[in-house]
Amino acid sequence: MPDFDTSVPHIARVYDYWLGGKDNFAADRELGKRTLQAYPNLVFSVRANRAFLTRTVRFLAAQAGIRQFLDIGTGIPANNNTHQVAQRVAPGSRIVYVDNDPIVLSHARALLTSKPEGACAYIDADLRDPDKILASAADTLDFTRPVAVMLVAVMHFISDDAEASAIVNRLTDACAPGSFVTISHAASDIDAEQQTEMVRRLNQSVAEKATLRDRVGVTRLFDGLELVEPGVVRVAEWRPDSQLEAASPTGLWGGVARKP
Ligand SMILES: C[S@@+](CC[C@H](N)C(=O)[O-])C[C@H]1O[C@@H](n2cnc3c(N)ncnc32)[C@H](O)[C@@H]1O
Repeated sequence: MPDFDTSVPHIARVYDYWLGGKDNFAADRELGKRTLQAYPNLVFSVRANRAFLTRTVRFLAAQAGIRQFLDIGTGIPANNNTHQVAQRVAPGSRIVYVDNDPIVLSHARALLTSKPEGACAYIDADLRDPDKILASAADTLDFTRPVAVMLVAVMHFISDDAEASAIVNRLTDACAPGSFVTISHAASDIDAEQQTEMVRRLNQSVAEKATLRDRVGVTRLFDGLELVEPGVVRVAEWRPDSQLEAASPTGLWGGVARKP
């Protein structure tokens, strides 16, 4: 039996429910349904976010030559986890996963299936403590060489704007020039009314409160970095593989930027 309280919904398990996963409990499903009623496109939105994760990792590995990834706010393993996408392009890729949820920790084994040429590690830590993350990640990643910091659907759990920017800055300051940051973030200016109600329902029940930001606020998180084309866009429109993919409803902004 799990040694955590399954009667309280956790965002990682609710997200797993939205994605159609099986690693969730009745309380997570109940909240999952209530939030879906508020924002029926949420199912498409989170799938588009997951596809954004896949396309950005593929871009970073195949086109930007990145071989090291720091994936913070990993979530319960789903399809196309970062190491699988990166190691399909370059088997020697090294990946460090970070999450603060005990249920994600309990699934870490499924994330540690590196190809022998590369490496995977898992750190049980909070995004609000970037120094701890950087110190532990240095066991696996060489910060004198470029790293891609993946902050996919996690920055909206840092409500204070100054703290959110400080976290991104601390992480990028530790990375070599030529490193990248990927961010996706729930939007206050897409499907505004429905998303606001969805987040209100979510925040009534989960410990990690979510905060919506608008496109300008999400873009500000990349200050000091060079956004790669097409900039901060709806995640479905970030270098989509098809017009169908680009047209998917989604309530998240996303972008990738390079440290000069
Ligand atoms: C919505 S899921 C996103 C999962 C994955 N990155 C994706 O986009 O498919 C957010 C994850 O961030 C984690 N998380 C939330 N706040 C966090 C924090 N302060 N520190 C570390 N992880 C956090 C949650 O536990 C959850 O697993």
